[in-house]
Amino acid sequence: MEIVTASPDETEALAARLAERLSPGDVVTISGELGAGKTTFVRGAARALGVTGPVSSPTFTIGHRYEAPTPVAHLDLYRIVELDPEEWGDLEPYFDGTVAFVEWPEHGGDWLPEARAVVTLEHVDESHRSVRIDSDLGL
Ligand SMILES: Nc1ncnc2c1ncn2[C@@H]1O[C@H](COP(=O)(O)OP(=O)(O)O)[C@@H](O)[C@H]1O
Ligand SMILES: [Mg+2]
Repeated sequence: MEIVTASPDETEALAARLAERLSPGDVVTISGELGAGKTTFVRGAARALGVTGPVSSPTFTIGHRYEAPTPVAHLDLYRIVELDPEEWGDLEPYFDGTVAFVEWPEHGGDWLPEARAVVTLEHVDESHRSVRIDSDLGL
């Protein structure tokens, strides 16, 4: 599916609809340039899964893990050039028992588990983003 959202709230609401269909073990990749709304999308999904605290980009670490009713992981591979086995060893625990959201999955090479949903965001204008979701989840 592909729709255009007109605000961050709309992007979060769409992410929440996807989140309702996800279970632990599922991986969602979110692609798009800086400012496209990747973290906004993850925030909406994390809220829907029961995360109550702030959801912000993991800037100084590679990932966050939230212990919510459905545990959520949020990874940002922006600063990874290409994942090597040692780095993958550090990342793997984030996927254990979580619904995992990965920004900049392109930097993960072949190491990432197969995605249950692939999200692609694009700027339309200042307040609009096109959001494409490829999945077998009926969205
Ligand atoms: N329709 C929209 N959907 C998502 N974000 C939007 C939208 N319109 C404006 N924005 C703004 O774009 C920015 C997206 O930032 P962020 O989610 O951190 O992007 P990324 O993680 O892709 O760098 C935020 O400042 C947000 O308020
Ligand atoms: Mg981000």
